[in-house]
Amino acid sequence: MTPLKFLAITATSLLLVAIIVLAIFASYSPRDQVFDVNPDPVPIPDDADALARGWYMAHAVGVCGVCHGPDLAGQTMSESVIWGYITTPNLTPGEGGIGGEYTVVDWVRAVRHGVGREGNPFAFMPVDHYFHMTDEDLGDMIAYLKSLPAVDNEGARMDLGIIPRIIINSGIKGDLVRAEKMDHTRPRPEPAASRAEYLVTLGGCDFCHGPTLTGGQGPEPGAPPGPDLTSSSAMAQWPLEDFEQVMRTGTLPTGEVINPFFMPWQGYQHLSDEDLALMFDYLRALPGRTD
Ligand code: HEC
Ligand code: HEC
Repeated sequence: MTPLKFLAITATSLLLVAIIVLAIFASYSPRDQVFDVNPDPVPIPDDADALARGWYMAHAVGVCGVCHGPDLAGQTMSESVIWGYITTPNLTPGEGGIGGEYTVVDWVRAVRHGVGREGNPFAFMPVDHYFHMTDEDLGDMIAYLKSLPAVDNEGARMDLGIIPRIIINSGIKGDLVRAEKMDHTRPRPEPAASRAEYLVTLGGCDFCHGPTLTGGQGPEPGAPPGPDLTSSSAMAQWPLEDFEQVMRTGTLPTGEVINPFFMPWQGYQHLSDEDLALMFDYLRALPGRTD
């Protein structure tokens, strides 16, 4: 066999293997699995203050509106052959919404475990962070979600395109179907050491800024790296106002505005002055990079 022929055969075989592997990744979906998760309910308060606290947990801390739309009635995130047709579910009791049917246990299963009424695991929803929400905060949030006004939107759709399927199924961009990687029988987490730690955990900063918050990479295609947020970061030298400006308007000290697809500041913008100040001090005091 001539070296050229050998090379041609090797290249063709490699290409074939690559096509077969991609085809497997593209046809299978972790979303087809069924999870049997039966969480305990949480107490649902019925005082007026609970609704305000629940609004804050949903919109400022859990940033549900970033994906489910400002009125939580679902919104279109993608409409393309390659990325897929993705319209998030309508959480209200309107037409096409789940709010009218969901029991308290259904809400707990969805928010803490990322699993639906039929045992279907959700793609994209950051439930491993929400798992840390206390019973009290989750109860407030469910009280608020149950009070949502009905909005009709029957457009919910999750037809993933070939690229997200490959990304999800190969696991190259982290756990995008969280239910698959979570131990659903694990005990409730220990309470956070401080309110700031709790807010940073629920806000999911580590998803893009790295497990130790010293820098990471979010899964959105084309997203820049998530910078270091700890004592070794540039931010550690900022005045509080610069941090507030990033969190409220996405505007960096350079004047550049962060694409809201790359960091969900349109949700974080609702965090109170007090909570932002706590988070800023907490982050700046974290152990930094050692390299
Ligand atoms: C990063 C985007 C994102 C965020 C943030 C998010 N969700 Fe979701 N959520 C989704 C997607 C996408 C689905 C559909 C997933 C699927 O079917 O694979 C979903 C599904 C759900 C469902 C299941 C609806 C059904 O059809 O049974 C509920 C309930 C829900 N989300 C509630 C929430 C709440 C409450 C919050 C905030 C605490 C939240 N979500 C935050 C993306 C998100
Ligand atoms: C979905 C990904 C994502 C999440 C979640 C996220 N960020 Fe970011 N963040 C980014 C990206 C990407 C940048 C850099 C944007 C750029 O350079 O244009 C950034 C930049 C920042 C900056 C500016 C830092 C600098 O040195 O310029 C701050 C501050 C920040 N994020 C704080 C937070 C905090 C606090 C949280 C959690 C409450 C959080 N981020 C959650 C993706 C994310």
